Formats: sequence, structure tokens, C-alpha cells
Amino acid sequence: MKISMSVFSTLGKKIFMGVTGLLLSGFIVIHLIGNLQLLLPDKDPFNIYAHILTQETGSIIYIAEFLLAAVFLIHFVYAIIVTWNNWQARPEGYRKVKWAKNTSRRSIGSVTMIYTGVVIMVFLVWHLLHFKFGEVVYYTPAGYDHEIRDLYVIVYQFFGNIINVILYIIVMALLGFHLSHGFWSAFQSLGLDGKRFTPFVYGLGVVFAIVMAVGFLFLPLFIFMTTGGTV
Ligand code: HEM
Repeated sequence: MKISMSVFSTLGKKIFMGVTGLLLSGFIVIHLIGNLQLLLPDKDPFNIYAHILTQETGSIIYIAEFLLAAVFLIHFVYAIIVTWNNWQARPEGYRKVKWAKNTSRRSIGSVTMIYTGVVIMVFLVWHLLHFKFGEVVYYTPAGYDHEIRDLYVIVYQFFGNIINVILYIIVMALLGFHLSHGFWSAFQSLGLDGKRFTPFVYGLGVVFAIVMAVGFLFLPLFIFMTTGGTV
């Protein structure tokens, strides 16, 4: 039997989805840890961190951003191809397929993957337009002799608006559902499973999803509740 391992074979697509999914999981962990500095009353640590990352790492940041964008795109495009193939293979629709109890890991997260994924991609465009390519405010932090970007104030002003806070909370909850299935699924796609390993990774994925969703949605909520966006 010849197993095709091209990037467009079923196995190739699964491996690409798994690897890119895990890389994106790694990115959001780092992103959340960096963003936790937004909880500090002093805006310097967050702004200096963002400044060093984007302005003082030379060409490394451009390469990293290019790779990150490529990983997001590959994950998204392959997700659409895989879902399309699944729909073609099962014209009667997912909903009519019976739950396979203990042998299946079907959940709200698993059957809504493509929808939550599309919402996250739309969110990302909005997110980047606002925070990365949006309004630029400069100030000079303590101990600096030159101005840097005041991203902290941009984030705070943005989350002073209740509509933005609500939309972020909804998307972060959907991100949680996406991760709750995606994390486990990535290991499956890479062929990493076993009697004990699979339930462990599944549980770990659910914990990971909850920590990420709660961590990310806590930020806008905290900013809105504590300052109402005024800094
Ligand atoms: C409350 C939640 C979040 C906050 C406050 C936040 C904040 C930010 C800020 C301030 C930036 C701009 C960084 C800069 O230009 O130096 C940024 C960039 C970015 N964010 Fe978020 N973020 C949040 C959630 C997310 C989530 C859930 C994702 C992914 C699903 C995400 C993906 C990204 C990406 C891909 C970038 C661009 C990174 C780069 O090119 O350097 N963010 N975020």
C-alpha cells in the first residue's frame, strides 16, 4: 500500500493542521503572558516590552511575523479544505451522525470548529487593524530619552467601550471552544495517541482552553471595570 505524504494528501493535511495548530497554541500562550502586563497600573512595563519586541529585535521580528502570518493562513486554508472534504464525504450532514459515546470525542467544540475558526480569523483582522495598524500615540517612559508607542493607552481606550468588551468576551469564549477540541485533535492528527495518553491530552486541552479563554476575556473586563478605559 502506498501512503501518499504530499501536503495535499489526507495525512499531509492532518499533519499540517496539527503542527500549525500547536504552533498557534504556543503563540497565544506567549501573547497572553505578555498581555498580562496590561493589568499593571504602570503603563511602562507593557509599552517597553512591546517596544523592545517590535523595534529592537532587528529583522528577527519581521521574520517571526511573516512566519506567524503564514502559520495562521496555512491553518485556516487547510481547515477549509478538510471541512469541505468532510462535508462532501458526508452529504447527510454532521448533525445526523449519532454520538459515539465513549469512543468519540465529539463535543460542541468539535462540531463547531470551522465556525469558531472563521469567527477567530475575522476577529484577527479587526484586532490587527486596531492594535497593530491602528492609531499611534507616543510618549517618553521613565528612564528613556526618546519616545515610544503608547499601546497601553490605545488598549485601555478601546476597552473603555462596552461594545468592544462584549464582542471580545464572546470571541474569547469561542476561542475557548475552538481550543478545547483543537488541542487534543492536533495530537491525534500527529498520530500521538494511546490508551492513557489520549484522555490525558484531552483533559489537558480542556484545561488549556479554559485558562486561555478566561485569561484573555479577563483583560477587557478588568480594564472596563477598573478604569472604564480612562488612563
Ligand atoms: C484581550 C485580548 C487581547 C489583547 C488585549 C491583545 C492585544 C494585542 C496588542 C496590543 C497587539 C499589538 C502588538 C504590537 O503591535 O506590538 C496585538 C497583536 C496581535 N494579537 Fe492580540 N490581543 C488579545 C487577544 C488575541 C488573540 C486571542 C489572538 C489570537 C487568536 C491575538 C493575536 C494577535 C496577533 C497575531 C497579533 C500580531 C502580532 C505581531 O504581529 O507582532 N490576540 N494583540
